Amino acid sequence: MKVIGVACSCLPRSNSLKAVEAFLKGAAEAGHETELIRLNKDLHGCIGCQACKKEGAGMCVQKDILTRYFELLPEAGAVVMGAGNYMGYAQGEAWTFMNRHYCLYGSMGPERKIKIEPGKKFFAIFAQGTPDNPAYRANYEAVCKPFEGWGFDRQDVMVVTQATLEERLKEAYELGKAL
Ligand SMILES: Cc1cc2nc3c(=O)[nH]c(=O)nc-3n(C[C@H](O)[C@H](O)[C@H](O)COP(=O)(O)O)c2cc1C
Repeated sequence: MKVIGVACSCLPRSNSLKAVEAFLKGAAEAGHETELIRLNKDLHGCIGCQACKKEGAGMCVQKDILTRYFELLPEAGAVVMGAGNYMGYAQGEAWTFMNRHYCLYGSMGPERKIKIEPGKKFFAIFAQGTPDNPAYRANYEAVCKPFEGWGFDRQDVMVVTQATLEERLKEAYELGKAL
């Protein structure tokens, strides 16, 4: 299957990026086709233009770093997103990434047709400075929950800190390998 990694952190030494890379390494070794998309300043928020809701429309009409993601998504079997924790919540890029999935709704009526097949696995890995805690976990759920509405098969969130980095990298690798 195709496995897409989306790294929200722009930091060169990003822990969430390292974990996404470990996951993709495991997936590649298991024979899957992987691609990493590193979000950067070429990331635009949803502008609510509704172009994606027109009859026969494709994915988001904005051309930016996520264009490739939405090209790959229909054929993908799994997505792994990595993001840092800023002020207790997933960093802004992760929210923008989530918001842009609005283009997957074919219409906004009561029968919201979704443009991708259901059942794609969705993994999320969050890096934070402080130890794992329930308040942050609740905030991570908030940014991940909408993916269920688009038919993704949500997997447990992984939290990585500097102290747990090596352990989590191994776990991320194993998760990718188990796909
Ligand atoms: C603007 C900013 C806000 C942050 N806020 C928090 C925070 O509220 N709680 C926390 O545990 N870590 C916080 N951190 C630390 C980051 O979550 C940590 O460095 C993490 O590793 C960043 O993810 P990355 O390594 O993938 O870039 C913050 C860092 C920055 C730059």
